[in-house]
Amino acid sequence: MEPGSKTTRWFNSSEGSPLSTATPIPVRSPLTSALAGATAVLIGGSSGIGLAAGVLLRSVGARVVLVGRDPDRLAAAVSRVRSAGPDRDADDAVLAVAGDGGDERVLAEAFDRAGQVDHVYVTAGGVGGTGPVTELSVDRIRTSFDSRLGAAFTAARTAATRLPAGGSLTFSSGILVVRPAPGMSAPLSVAGAVETLTTALAVELAPARLRVNAIRYGRIDTPLLRSVPGHDTDDAIAAAGSTTPLGRVGTAEEAAATALFLMANNYVTGQIITIDGGETLT
Ligand SMILES: NC(=O)c1ccc[n+]([C@@H]2O[C@H](COP(=O)([O-])OP(=O)(O)OC[C@H]3O[C@@H](n4cnc5c(N)ncnc54)[C@H](OP(=O)(O)O)[C@@H]3O)[C@@H](O)[C@H]2O)c1
Repeated sequence: MEPGSKTTRWFNSSEGSPLSTATPIPVRSPLTSALAGATAVLIGGSSGIGLAAGVLLRSVGARVVLVGRDPDRLAAAVSRVRSAGPDRDADDAVLAVAGDGGDERVLAEAFDRAGQVDHVYVTAGGVGGTGPVTELSVDRIRTSFDSRLGAAFTAARTAATRLPAGGSLTFSSGILVVRPAPGMSAPLSVAGAVETLTTALAVELAPARLRVNAIRYGRIDTPLLRSVPGHDTDDAIAAAGSTTPLGRVGTAEEAAATALFLMANNYVTGQIITIDGGETLT
């Protein structure tokens, strides 16, 4: 190693490093050329990680169908994703369907409008049903399960019926599944169930040459994370990330790049991929 090379300076912290752990390195997704001309339905594509996936997908020539409930948010997301494509873009390069991703009719509309869909990525969902287990009513627990797990099954049933061989379905989870916090029993049970659903579907749908994976996120800088009390400023986000081995929270683009990898790689199925800056190692 040459003295003064980046790597040497990297380890010599007393001289200061040209690479700060607090600065994200721009995403360069692998295998993206495999996605040119493919079509992805992004359930939860109007914000955060799903929106970032839309931008990355469009930038590599994929068609994108965004699904979200709030029509205004969705319209803004369509403009953002369109701006990642060529100046003169086809009308159907970016489509939007407003509605609940747990509703089979909404997903059917998304597939119908797209004509052909190759990949489905589910990022819809927040953190509902929190609270100490003694204060959770059965109704609240049921609502938590019905909304998120029900939506996962709806996506699975639609994908299993309508995706062609070579297609993929990717779910979302979070590292709290393996590092639980008090008051999270309902949402974490649901996330754990989604991970189990992922492996169960992977073997069930493999004969149809459909792949099913999930991404387990650490803290990713999105509107959802910034809605968590104490995370609403840049300083708070920086402080939250400072305890991870990579010294920062992840970007939505980094999280979304994991989904593109899973869509593009035809030999990955039944996997729960963690993207957390090493947080679960500490
Ligand atoms: N960000 C993190 O640090 C983090 C950590 C662990 C896990 N996760 C998980 O990662 C996923 C994505 O999170 P994010 O941070 O990108 O969240 P986000 O910024 O809040 O985006 C969530 C998206 O899902 C949509 N959505 C929510 N419920 C929906 C429904 N029933 N039907 C259709 N669309 C729906 C939202 O739009 P509308 O509200 O307009 O529908 C929005 O577009 C979530 O499942 C989250 O639990 C995130």
